[in-house]
Order: sequence, then structure tokens, then C-alpha cells
Amino acid sequence: MNGTAPVPADAGIDPARFIKANMRLQAVPSVPEIRLYTAHPASNLWRLTGKRGEGAPPYWAYVWAGGAVLARHFLDRPQSVRGRRVLDLGAGGGIVGIAAAKAGAAAVAAAEIDRNGIAAIGLNASANGVTLEIRGRDLTRSEPPPGIDLVAVGDLFYAAGLAKRVTRFLDNCLAMGAEVLVGDPGRAFLPHARLQPVAQYAVPDFGDGGAAPKPSTVFAYR
Ligand SMILES: C[S@@+](CC[C@H](N)C(=O)[O-])C[C@H]1O[C@@H](n2cnc3c(N)ncnc32)[C@H](O)[C@@H]1O
Repeated sequence: MNGTAPVPADAGIDPARFIKANMRLQAVPSVPEIRLYTAHPASNLWRLTGKRGEGAPPYWAYVWAGGAVLARHFLDRPQSVRGRRVLDLGAGGGIVGIAAAKAGAAAVAAAEIDRNGIAAIGLNASANGVTLEIRGRDLTRSEPPPGIDLVAVGDLFYAAGLAKRVTRFLDNCLAMGAEVLVGDPGRAFLPHARLQPVAQYAVPDFGDGGAAPKPSTVFAYR
């Protein structure tokens, strides 16, 4: 004990204030062009999110291999995104959308359903000098919004029900004429039969402890 009483998760905490006060703005190891508010052992993120099982896990607070490879891809091959209207689906802290904007996308929307993640996206976007339009509702439960040229999906195939909804949503995006790119290290519910590898990069993954970089893939979804 450090002499202070445990503070319960508090729905009244302002997420943006908490993130600025308790996380560190630092360069992403595999994508040093981008700085993100990053959790560290003293962040006490549970104060914002609730103890295990109480609230949504703070996935937005970490960099996942799927997002890192898409970000690397956009920055290394800006022609893949330049001048296009991009949707970053399952944006987390916004790494994919930020990379797209930095690489010259005409407009970027970041879709995220966690209110803490939404706050992080806003802070991370402005820390990197880009503007993202934030979509804070679950787009996978309805038709895709119009005006999207490219959908980028970083690490969103980690749960069965979610993967099913995302696949249906992406099918609708293809039908609308959008291109779809998926970044993923090989999660359990990846729809392999629909994916064609486009590029591979070695990046660390928070999912395996963020240890040594391992190959992760950018796929075209067809
Ligand atoms: C594993 S994280 C990946 C974050 C980021 N794309 C990356 O690769 O670093 C998945 C994120 O998707 C969000 N998410 C889950 N279901 C979603 C949905 N239906 N619409 C938008 N975001 C969703 C979660 O809240 C979480 O922040």
C-alpha cells in the first residue's frame, strides 16, 4: 500500500484529462514518425476503464501489430493512400488513420466505439498535427457510410462475433466500390480465404507482450 485509498473506476473522470496526465506521449517503436499517448506501469489505466471485467479492455492504449503494419505501409508507400478518403475501422488510438493523414489522404475518418479510445484519437491526432473525423458509433451494424475510397482495418479479427460483423461490413464496402486493406499478425478469426498478402513488415505486437518484432501482414480483402 502506498498510503492512499484505492480509487474506484470513475465514469466521471474526463478521459482526455486522464490520458494527458497519466500516459506518455512517445514515438511508436516500429513507426517513429508517429507519437502516441502510451500506457506505462504507473498509468493506472484501471482508474479510467474499471478493474478487469468491469469495462471494455483498454485496447486503444496500446499499439497492435495489425495497426502498426498498416501505418508502416501507408508511410512507406504513400501512393497507396494519397488523395483518397480513408476509413480507419477499429481505430484504437488512431495510429492507422494518423499514418494515412500524414501520407497525404484527402480525408480520414476514425471509427472507434470505446469512449476512452475516442478521446485518445483526438489527442493523438492533434499531437501529430493531423485532423481525423471521429465516428463514435458501431458502423458494422449498418450500411457503410458513403464517400469512402479505402477502408483500413488494423487488428480487428480477434473475436468471433466481431469478425463476422466486420466481414459483412467489409463486403458491403467492396460492393460500394471501396478498396479494403487489413493489417493483421494472424489472429484467430482472420478470414484467410478472403485475403491476399500485399506487404509484410516486422513489428512488435502488444498481443504477445510487445517483445521482438515479428512479421505481420497487410492484406487486400477481396
Ligand atoms: C485490437 S484494437 C486495434 C486498434 C488499432 N487499429 C491498432 O491496430 O493498433 C481493436 C480496437 O477496435 C475497437 N473496436 C471493436 N469493435 C469495434 C467496432 N465495431 N467499431 C469500431 N471500433 C471497434 C476496440 O475498441 C479497440 O480499440
